[in-house]
Formats: sequence, structure tokens, C-alpha cells
Amino acid sequence: MAHSDICILGTGAHVPAKVLTNHELARMVDTTDEWIVTRTGIRERHLAGKNEPTSMMAAAAARAALADAGVTAEQVDLIILATLTPDQPMPATACLVQHLLGVPARAACFDLNAACSGFLYALDTAWAMLASGRYRHALVIGAEKLSSIVDWTDRSTCVLFGDGAGAAVLGPARGTARLLGTRLYAEGAHAHLLCVPRGPKPVIQMKGREVFKNAVRQMEDAVREILEQHGLTAAQISSVIPHQANLRIIESLAQYLGLPIERFIVNLDRYGNTSAASIPLALDEARRSGRVRAGDTTLLVAFGAGLTYGAALVRW
Ligand code: COA
Repeated sequence: MAHSDICILGTGAHVPAKVLTNHELARMVDTTDEWIVTRTGIRERHLAGKNEPTSMMAAAAARAALADAGVTAEQVDLIILATLTPDQPMPATACLVQHLLGVPARAACFDLNAACSGFLYALDTAWAMLASGRYRHALVIGAEKLSSIVDWTDRSTCVLFGDGAGAAVLGPARGTARLLGTRLYAEGAHAHLLCVPRGPKPVIQMKGREVFKNAVRQMEDAVREILEQHGLTAAQISSVIPHQANLRIIESLAQYLGLPIERFIVNLDRYGNTSAASIPLALDEARRSGRVRAGDTTLLVAFGAGLTYGAALVRW
């Protein structure tokens, strides 16, 4: 299968039922709804319960994506799960998802950790594996239970994150939703800015301001490079699905690219930052709400711990 024959055949999403609002958070740590909304744009986030591991959320999103694509579990021969919160260090959570879905044993299943850029890394990997001709239908999933690694006493980080999952089915072309290209990067020199150091209870540690500055610069670089590679200008981009970390980061990116903020798909007000799940959650919402139409060119752009970053282009 040529790269150009590979399409996004369907998408799906799942978030846990429990919602934690900023007002509820303000009773847990020294913060306010006003501070969180002004600095981040986040109003609430979904939290998974004790019996809702990453695998379960991933499988629910994957089932929705398969139904949307009209592809059966039997047809899937590749599962790539982007996550930094696997159910356990081993086996790979992708294998647990395979079992939950009833995907046959001839499928390759593995996890991939590129933090918040994970979905774009997984998309690029699946695309290359399908183009090799050795796989036909891939499930690309981003799923996170970040609530399990948040320090709920640290107001500078606990207000930012949420749980959820999003998935896409990739397979042979049926005309639309073609992947045009991807571009991935990593700057390990900045690894210390956002990490979960080992310890008795590993939790997210972050230098917020530095992450903010790098995020805007990196995403702008990734966008400019992928547009140049494809001979496109920013004005030709119909919609942008950015990693949903902070509305001010998205607004800065829009400003640097000279694009109206209305072209950006934003749902972080309801979900917070769900890391690898953030882009597929927004992608699914954009498709189902009619925000992307046939012929549109959509730009996906992410950044995250690593520091990793990247971009992808889809022609609907
Ligand atoms: N509620 C109230 N006050 C808070 C707060 C909270 N939840 N969190 C931090 N503060 C305080 C700080 O203690 C600080 O107080 P001080 O001036 O008395 O020291 C003040 O607010 C400003 O803190 P600062 O960290 O400079 O704020 P900021 O404008 O940079 O916003 C972030 C903080 C985290 C929202 C912002 O830096 C950010 O979003 N960074 C990127 C993070 C990110 O996207 N991470 C994920 C990457 S995938």
C-alpha cells in the first residue's frame, strides 16, 4: 500500500463519567476557578475511577472508532497505543486492549510513549507500517489516566490534567481523510522541564513557564516546516487540531502563524490536558460536529514531555 493510499477510516472517543470542576478543585488546593480559567482556559476535566484503567478507556474509544469506520475487530492487524500511563509496566496495555476488543493473535500490539505528542508519533508509525504492505488495518489510540500520576497537593500542576481516550482506524483508501504527511521531533536536552521522576509515588513535575515558551516555539517550527514540505501556506489550512494543554499557548501559536483563532479546534475547557488522548479526542469531536468537511486540509500539531513535538496534515 502506498503512503498516499492510507486514510483515517473512522474515529472514536471515550471519557470517564466523573467530572471535576474548577470550583471543586478550589476546595482541594489553594486556587480559584478564575485563576485556572484565565491562565489556562480549563473549566473542568474527567477523572477515571479506581476500576477504570487506561486499557478500558482505550478499548471504549477503539470500539467507537471501529464502528465509525465499519471495520471489525477481526480485520485489525495492528494496535499502537500511545500512553504514558499504562495499566502496568508490562505487558503492554495495547495487548490488554487487543484482548478486550477480541482482535486476533496475528495482530502486532505495542505501546508507545512520546507523552503529549504520542498520538502523532503513533500515527506516523502506523502509517509507515501500513505503507510497508505488511499490515492492513491499524488502530491508533491515545489513552491516559493522568489522574494516577498527578500530585493532588500541587496547585501548579493538578489543575491542568484530565483522563480520557481517543482512537482512529487507519486503512486502505476510500477516497477521503488521506494523511498527507507527518513530521516528528524531540529535544532531549529539555527532558527535565516536564517529567515523572522515579520515587515511592511518582508524580508529574513541571517548570510551567519554560514548557510554555518551548511549546509555542516548537509547534510554530513544526507547522512552518510541514507546510513548506507540502508547498502550503498557513492560509490554506482550514482547521488546526492542536494539543489541548493551555488556551494561551494555542492563542500564541495562532498569533505567530497569523491564523484566526476560530480555525483552531479547542475542547480543553471540558477535558483539560489529556496528553496522548488530547488530539484524538478533539479530532473525533471535530469530525462528528461537522467542523471538518470534505476537501478541507487539517493540521494536527502537538508538543509534550521529552520535549517531543510534531505535526501532521490530513486532507478530508
Ligand atoms: N492557582 C492559583 N495560583 C497559582 C496556581 C493555581 N492553580 N498555580 C500557580 N499559581 C501561582 C504561582 O504560585 C505564582 O505565584 P507567585 O507569583 O506568588 O509565585 C503565580 O501563580 C504565577 O505562577 P506562574 O507559574 O508564573 O504562572 P503562569 O502564568 O506561568 O501559569 C501555567 C502557570 C502552569 C498555567 C503555565 O505556565 C502553563 O500552562 N505552562 C505550560 C504547561 C503545560 O502546558 N504543560 C503540559 C505540557 S504537555
